[in-house]
Amino acid sequence: AATVERSFHVQNLTVWRLCRPQVITAVNGSLPGPTIYAREGDTLIIHVFNKSPYNLTIHWHGIFQRLTAWADGPSYITQCPILPGNSYTYRFTITGQEGTLWWHAHLLWLRATVYGALIIRPKWGHTYPFPKPYKEVLLLLGEWWNSNVMDVENESLQLGITPNNSDAYTINGKPGELYPCSKKQTYKLKVAPGKIYLLRLINAALNNQLFFEIAGHVLKVVAVDAAYTDPYVTDIIVLAPGQTADVLLTAEQWPGAYYMAGRPYFNAENAGPFDNTTTTGILVYEGSASALIPKMPLLPAFNDTPTAHKFSSGLTSLVGARHWVPVPCKVDEQMFITIGLGLSPCGGNATCQGPNGLRFSASMNNASFQLPTSLSLLEAFFYDVKGIYTADFPDVPPLVFDYTNRSLSQSPLGFTLKGTRVKKFKYNATVEIVLQNTAFVGVENHPMHLHGNNFHVLAQGFGNFDAINDRKKFNLINPVIRNTIGVPVGGWAVIRFQANNPGAWLFHCHFDVHLPWGLATVFLVENCPILSSTLPPPPADFPKC
Ligand code: C2O
Repeated sequence: AATVERSFHVQNLTVWRLCRPQVITAVNGSLPGPTIYAREGDTLIIHVFNKSPYNLTIHWHGIFQRLTAWADGPSYITQCPILPGNSYTYRFTITGQEGTLWWHAHLLWLRATVYGALIIRPKWGHTYPFPKPYKEVLLLLGEWWNSNVMDVENESLQLGITPNNSDAYTINGKPGELYPCSKKQTYKLKVAPGKIYLLRLINAALNNQLFFEIAGHVLKVVAVDAAYTDPYVTDIIVLAPGQTADVLLTAEQWPGAYYMAGRPYFNAENAGPFDNTTTTGILVYEGSASALIPKMPLLPAFNDTPTAHKFSSGLTSLVGARHWVPVPCKVDEQMFITIGLGLSPCGGNATCQGPNGLRFSASMNNASFQLPTSLSLLEAFFYDVKGIYTADFPDVPPLVFDYTNRSLSQSPLGFTLKGTRVKKFKYNATVEIVLQNTAFVGVENHPMHLHGNNFHVLAQGFGNFDAINDRKKFNLINPVIRNTIGVPVGGWAVIRFQANNPGAWLFHCHFDVHLPWGLATVFLVENCPILSSTLPPPPADFPKC
């Protein structure tokens, strides 16, 4: 195994998009930031120099961080921020996973422009469990605002209202020629007839799920979230923020030009307007005449839930592939967690303008998670410091009532309570969680992301989870393995994982607007009694609050 050492210089710079200049924060002057290529088993050493005016942390989305929880990155969870002018070195070894992951800032909305791909190839001598691609292509889908994103978020938090919508979606940082002044800001991919390409897709958008399609071509999904899947043939890919997909494309069309296009999948009630624009890139066959008009794919309607659900529930894991893990069959910890929007008091804030004199919030089991401010949760856990969190994440019995009943949308049940309430697990506990979307205030699909672990998705569906009948639908043979699950709108999903990685693992909605609203909790996993698998103390340059 090798050591992959890189430096990230995080700095503000001005870029032109959609006819105007905009100051953004970016890594090494590029948007998206640098791609990290590694092989399974390699050790990564990333020196992060914060030359931006903001506090900063970097998260390695989907990386297990076995016994290196100090390098995971979510601000105030596993570390205090790197202050402007300071630096921190993230060190971790990649074990037990290969495929497409990514990295992003994990403090407020900085990740809108501070993100990049993290590609894990098989160890030397190992091959992919699919035909060897002729070339690999990165496709990072993003979201763009015509104003400074930190201002957009701060304004919405101060006023207690939903933030402004983005102004464009992007492919590899470029909106594509359907937007104004964007002819040159269009990603182009040249392909050779007959060759197979491995597309590595990442949804790095902040607040939207995306449909993705390429005109005239079928796509074959071979992995999601860096876990191999049974080959799944489809016209359309659906990605929630945080999710990735490895997709094979065969260049078998007539020579010509074809649009690849991404636009939102958004089916939410009472959620207000959203950015319903389309980003495009162009796939051109070598030897095609120039100035061709690309063919446009027929994308589903923005609210086409059946299409989104068909894709998400159709994926299965590739049994027996390297790093595949069977479903743990005995369950030690059973949790039922409602996830959804809510409202909370303005707290004497004169500028607060949310509905009914309240502010928007979000919660799990009605608890709105608040980040600590004086110490990271992981330090508090590791050094047993009192007063930073309480290990009393509320239990809610399943089937109290129909959580998805639309008439609940004005219910006082949506009134959330703030706190830093976490759940503790014994080392190696098998955890099963029923995630139940609610209809308080609004009905949405929430992309739930677990740090430090993958999980099996046993089943998903609509309405209220039925503890007797829906259990019969569990796939215990080859369920898809991922780190982020889009819990269906007005529905539920059941996940299972083994808490075998000591640390503090954030579990949260990957819509960036819902994290500060409180749609999160933290799982504290205790040390293994065997000394060789206990979490060591933090490194010497660890940032202090
Ligand atoms: Cu991709 Cu907690 O994040």
